[in-house]
Amino acid sequence: MAAEVHVVAHPLVQHKLTLMRDKDTSTSKFRTLLREISTLLAYEVCRDFPTTMIEVETPIGKTMAPVLDGKKLVLISILRAGNGLLDGMLDLIPSARVGHIGLYRDHQTLAPVEYYFKVPDSMSERDVIIVDPMLATGNSAVAAVSRIKKTGPRSIKFMCLLTVPEGLQVFHATHPDVPVYTASIDERLNEKSYIVPGLGDAGDRMFGTK
Ligand code: URA
Repeated sequence: MAAEVHVVAHPLVQHKLTLMRDKDTSTSKFRTLLREISTLLAYEVCRDFPTTMIEVETPIGKTMAPVLDGKKLVLISILRAGNGLLDGMLDLIPSARVGHIGLYRDHQTLAPVEYYFKVPDSMSERDVIIVDPMLATGNSAVAAVSRIKKTGPRSIKFMCLLTVPEGLQVFHATHPDVPVYTASIDERLNEKSYIVPGLGDAGDRMFGTK
């Protein structure tokens, strides 16, 4: 299976991303932009979700019309920066369920270690969108998807704001079946594994912790 990467090139997405990259953009403006851009990205991620026909009665008469198929979909945030994408996605998909996965990097082995995991029940009947603004080295994204796969969801997609070719390569080497949706594929990682040109530390910028 060819690994899928969708770059959402919509001018509104690209405009908002440029404002987010600017180091002089304030925390509150950054949050507002993040909420708006995550709604637009979510719209694209949901584009091919299956629908089923139901009967509906309009004020004029009965008709068959489409609704999303299956149980409520699940947004999985990779803590902590993933949380910044949730509000905008929930604006668009208010009935979605939300799960969280917390991972930290072991200083010795550099491997991701899970410290928190909570997802809804009946995962085998649900479609999942895993979210993290920065798919950088790809290590935590790979670990998060591997963990979610153990719950056996109907489908998995990964949504981020920014990524880089080396991160995508790492990610799709393990999970070629999981499509990635992003606003940009940037140039590269620097020696500290930050995305270049990127937007800095996404968590610090959205929570004002720098
Ligand atoms: N995480 C971030 O917040 N920023 C990067 O550039 C890379 C990973």
